[in-house]
Amino acid sequence: MQALVYNRYGTPDVLSMRDVPIPTPKDYEVQLKIHAASLNSWDWDKLTGKLTPGRKPSHPILGADMAGIVTAIGSKVSQFNLGDAVFGDNSGGNWGGFAQYACMPENMLVLKPSNMSFAQAAAIPQAATLAIQALNDSGSIVAGQKILINGAGGGVGTFALQMAKASGAHVTCVDKAEKLAMLQKLGADVVIDYRNQDFTANGQTYDMVLDVMANHSLSVLKNCLKPQGRYIIVGGATWLIMKCIALYPLIGRGKSKKLKLLWHRPNQTDLQRLKTLFDNGTFKPIIDTVYPLADAAEAFAKIGAGQVQGKLIISIDH
Ligand SMILES: NC(=O)c1ccc[n+]([C@@H]2O[C@H](COP(=O)([O-])OP(=O)(O)OC[C@H]3O[C@@H](n4cnc5c(N)ncnc54)[C@H](OP(=O)(O)O)[C@@H]3O)[C@@H](O)[C@H]2O)c1
Repeated sequence: MQALVYNRYGTPDVLSMRDVPIPTPKDYEVQLKIHAASLNSWDWDKLTGKLTPGRKPSHPILGADMAGIVTAIGSKVSQFNLGDAVFGDNSGGNWGGFAQYACMPENMLVLKPSNMSFAQAAAIPQAATLAIQALNDSGSIVAGQKILINGAGGGVGTFALQMAKASGAHVTCVDKAEKLAMLQKLGADVVIDYRNQDFTANGQTYDMVLDVMANHSLSVLKNCLKPQGRYIIVGGATWLIMKCIALYPLIGRGKSKKLKLLWHRPNQTDLQRLKTLFDNGTFKPIIDTVYPLADAAEAFAKIGAGQVQGKLIISIDH
């Protein structure tokens, strides 16, 4: 099969298309003929070695989010049959979505609804799961609550914005100027260009700050929260994340302002909830560009350069 492979960290030019063996499923795995996969910033971090410098890449074929057709099943698979259209997040398994076939545990997959395209299905798992988990981390959103999303124009933010608006929240979105019109179209009530305005310095306070790009100090951030406000970190600067881990026992469980670092927990229950939200029109995946597998290195270059509105999709032909 054709696959996009890398064996050392670097820029997108370390990626190359190779012919590699089709993987066979273990007992609890299914084999997918992949039709679409999506890029996350995590793929970029794994390509460049940001997360594990010094070690060899652990997954030579990247791509955790994928959608396709079941073509083989392990001996203990009970939930899926040959020919089922499915989608899910294989970041807890062997990644491998930027290829014609991949194997993944059945408990990371759900059936794809017929009204959802393979590209839409591939866009959803990681980013929309992080969005739904962040928004519901300490109870549901209540209509009228003020929410700020920092880094709103990417994968997680575009899902979180649509979900928060559907719950009746007043949503402020922070990203670069080029993405603000798209965010307003999705329902953002207030938009802020991070290159022109510091959202922590305008005197506004929020019931929740959902931070995809955490890059402000905690002492500044706590001034943006209402007395019972929550600050949820999805991703961002390593120094701030380390500080949050250290400080969590002190400020994470207080009765008033709460700090929370979100850990990615891919699971079928959230994917099923996301299917329902897709079906009832709560959100639609925002897809910036679809690249054929042969041009996937270009997609990596684009995510690395940082101009993506929503998600990038890799479409896989057979
Ligand atoms: N918590 C977990 O367990 C977990 C698991 C997986 C991933 N993550 C993290 O989750 C995040 C993924 O988010 P994503 O998929 O939405 O990423 P994304 O698609 O890259 O979106 C991030 C957005 O933030 C914007 N941005 C860049 N610098 C900014 C700044 N200074 N202020 C405000 N916005 C800024 C980006 O714009 P540009 O176009 O300028 O880049 C982009 O629109 C990453 O940080 C990743 O590390 C967390």
